[in-house]
Amino acid sequence: MEDILVAIVGAGPSGLATAACLNSMLIPNIILEREDCCASLWKKRAYDRLKLHLAKRYCALPLLPHLPTTPKYMSKDTFVCYLDDYASRFNIKPLYNRSVEHSFYDENEKKWRIEAKNTVSGEMEVYAAKFLVVATGENSQAYVPEVPGLESFEGEIVHASEYKSGLTYGGKKVLVVGCGNSGMEISRDLSDFGAHTSILIRSPFHVLTRDMVFLGMKLLQYLPVKTVDSMLLTMAKLVFGNLSKCGIHRPKQGPFAFKAATGKTPVIDRGAVEKIQAGEIEVVPDIVNIDGSTVEFKNGVHKSFDAIIFATGYKSVAYNWLQDYQHVLEADGLPKYKYPNLWRGEKRLYCAGMLGKGLAGVSSDAKSIAHDIAKIINAKRKMRSSRKGPQGKVFANAFISKFRRLWF
Ligand SMILES: Cc1cc2nc3c(=O)[nH]c(=O)nc-3n(C[C@H](O)[C@H](O)[C@H](O)COP(=O)(O)OP(=O)(O)OC[C@H]3O[C@@H](n4cnc5c(N)ncnc54)[C@H](O)[C@@H]3O)c2cc1C
Ligand SMILES: *[C@@H]1O[C@H](CO)[C@@H](O)[C@H](O)[C@H]1NC(C)=O
Ligand SMILES: *[C@@H]1O[C@H](CO)[C@@H](O)[C@H](O)[C@H]1NC(C)=O
Repeated sequence: MEDILVAIVGAGPSGLATAACLNSMLIPNIILEREDCCASLWKKRAYDRLKLHLAKRYCALPLLPHLPTTPKYMSKDTFVCYLDDYASRFNIKPLYNRSVEHSFYDENEKKWRIEAKNTVSGEMEVYAAKFLVVATGENSQAYVPEVPGLESFEGEIVHASEYKSGLTYGGKKVLVVGCGNSGMEISRDLSDFGAHTSILIRSPFHVLTRDMVFLGMKLLQYLPVKTVDSMLLTMAKLVFGNLSKCGIHRPKQGPFAFKAATGKTPVIDRGAVEKIQAGEIEVVPDIVNIDGSTVEFKNGVHKSFDAIIFATGYKSVAYNWLQDYQHVLEADGLPKYKYPNLWRGEKRLYCAGMLGKGLAGVSSDAKSIAHDIAKIINAKRKMRSSRKGPQGKVFANAFISKFRRLWF
């Protein structure tokens, strides 16, 4: 069993950002990552044409702003390079091929016990950590809703996380289920490659352009949500016109109010709306049943498809491996505590990047967590040295420098 101070599970942006903040304060830590690389979501589970939807100032991790030469809206590849550079600059060396399968709080030792499977050797490795940071992401498991008859579908069934591009779908009839950012952009991509594309839309949502969102986020610093929302809606009306004709309905609340109330982000249009308006992408309602290759929709229409792509999102499944998740998370995988300290649980358990606030949230969680850990360590250190007088201090310093030598 290996004894460590801080264990971080997951080497996505959240895990990297937390490790960078800890390293900058010389606090020893390790990252356990099940894949063989960092940022696996971005490297392995994102489609080719993906660009970051938010401007670069909202997509930087702590201590390393993007370069002035970086485009305002980065491509996936630029962001991946930034993350690789980030890891090497802050000397972050995740332990790869370690899938954490079980973790619990050991009341006797007052430590988190972490069991990770080494996916290369097949062996179980055990770690004991004073602090545990859950950074496994909100997107750790693809979610596919239950659809009557789906098991009988004869065509291809794909989740958005496995979709790369429309290259292989030219001339095919493809149904995209889900009209969030991924679903809309994948529809556009399929249509570009000549697929006969349908998109299933069943509930109201907001569509904006990325510059509208950028302006909105800036204005929110000075103006109330209501004012910003009505400005954005006026602009959206000018740009998109009335979308209800083509099956896209807006919620009653404005975009930012709707996001605050439901957690649903507005769709940032990357060309799908124009294609829907031109009839190049067809909008269909909810599915009633699937039989073989035929899909029956709520409006009574039957259509056959070669493939169905589920852009229906993800769920966080930390409770699969974290036995004592209740110290920081609810059973649905969302944080338990309310604003502003959602990232802090009991028993020195933390969660980073689980609040639906994207990369800006990741960055602020990481800073808060690292500072909290530093505060606890320093308080302990002070207590020890005041109790033991100058000798204690000497001991503490020797201890720290030994740690430093061991870890850096
Ligand atoms: C298609 C797509 C586009 C997006 N675009 C944007 C955007 O433009 N702007 C934005 O702000 N956000 C965007 N997001 C949200 C994005 O997921 C987050 O901003 C960011 O990736 C979250 O980082 P994370 O580290 O919390 O999670 P992740 O990136 O999911 O990283 C979690 C890591 O934990 C590892 N892991 C999971 N379980 C275990 C386990 N049991 N043991 C060991 N390791 C484990 C995973 O392999 C993974 O590497 C997008 C998401 C998707 C899916
Ligand atoms: C992780 O596993 C892959 C194969 O699955 C292997 O190529 C890679 O070298 C391994 N990495 C480490 C650090 O063990
Ligand atoms: C959009 O058009 C529909 C009819 O197609 C109408 O009922 C609705 O009021 C219009 N919405 C706006 C905001 O103008």
